[in-house]
Amino acid sequence: MIKRKIIIDCDPGVDDAIALAFAAANRDRLELLAVTTVGGNQAIEKVTRNALDLLDFYGLDVPVAMGADSPLIREPMYAPEVHGENGLGNCALPKTSRTPEKENAVLFLRKILLALPEGEKATLVPIGPMTNIALLVKLFPEVKDRIREIVFMGGAACGGNVTSSAEFNIYVDPEAAKMVFRSGIPLVMCGLDATLKCCLTRGQVLKLCQSPQRIAKLCGDMAGFALENSSSKYRGVVSIHDAVPLLYLLHPEIFTVKRTILDVDCSDGVSRGTTLCDFRWWEHEEEEMKDFVLMDADTKAFQEKLIEALYGLT
Ligand code: BDR
Ligand code: CA
Repeated sequence: MIKRKIIIDCDPGVDDAIALAFAAANRDRLELLAVTTVGGNQAIEKVTRNALDLLDFYGLDVPVAMGADSPLIREPMYAPEVHGENGLGNCALPKTSRTPEKENAVLFLRKILLALPEGEKATLVPIGPMTNIALLVKLFPEVKDRIREIVFMGGAACGGNVTSSAEFNIYVDPEAAKMVFRSGIPLVMCGLDATLKCCLTRGQVLKLCQSPQRIAKLCGDMAGFALENSSSKYRGVVSIHDAVPLLYLLHPEIFTVKRTILDVDCSDGVSRGTTLCDFRWWEHEEEEMKDFVLMDADTKAFQEKLIEALYGLT
């Protein structure tokens, strides 16, 4: 089977951690070339430590490079109410002796991409603020030819979770998102329209927590924290936002997708960080409408695929 080469840029993060578990469960179909980290859900030192410990726990021998500690121009903003003080729902993991690469994430991404065999490309999967990716495409435009597409978690065609219209990853660093959106690289936005439907119920989470399998249990414990300590407690379900780009890559039939042109509001007003989807196909040439946005998801199919993957890990 031909494996799809991917690089995950993340800020683990409860749902980032579950996304990495999903990648581990699908290592026969996804070739994870590297994991890079970015300050987002927690400070860069914490999320980088989490990435190293998680990959070790999942048995994935993948390099980790530490990236930006703060957005391009704005102040950092963390989300301890969803992810806990340690970023993993305050769940403790065995500490690994693994260390990050010596190079910064942006330089490391450049190296990995340019080292791909002639004609091969990798898919970037950013599931945190887009600071690293923006710097990469701005400083080293030569890598663009090596990027097949950017399939990211962030934004929404409609609605928000930090404000009424902005989603966390985009709100934290809207300027970075704008640079990525303008890079010319094909984009797939896995935003709240779909990710809010990609959730686990309290019953499913409790069952994971009771599993004798250590990875399924960890994922249950982390999801349980997010479920009880954030707005999820009112909904009674917890969305696993960051697993969605990976599920989209392997199971696109679960999602309803629409062609668009993406943009983002970088103002300081009430709509800071709001993503804008231009669906007006009659106004644009076909090749201009190069982006896609996930508009809907099959909740049951998502739950089945994710849960099956987590129980498949030992
Ligand atoms: C996104 O924000 C973060 O808190 C999550 O990890 C996810 O990437 C959801 O809005
Ligand atoms: Ca994230």
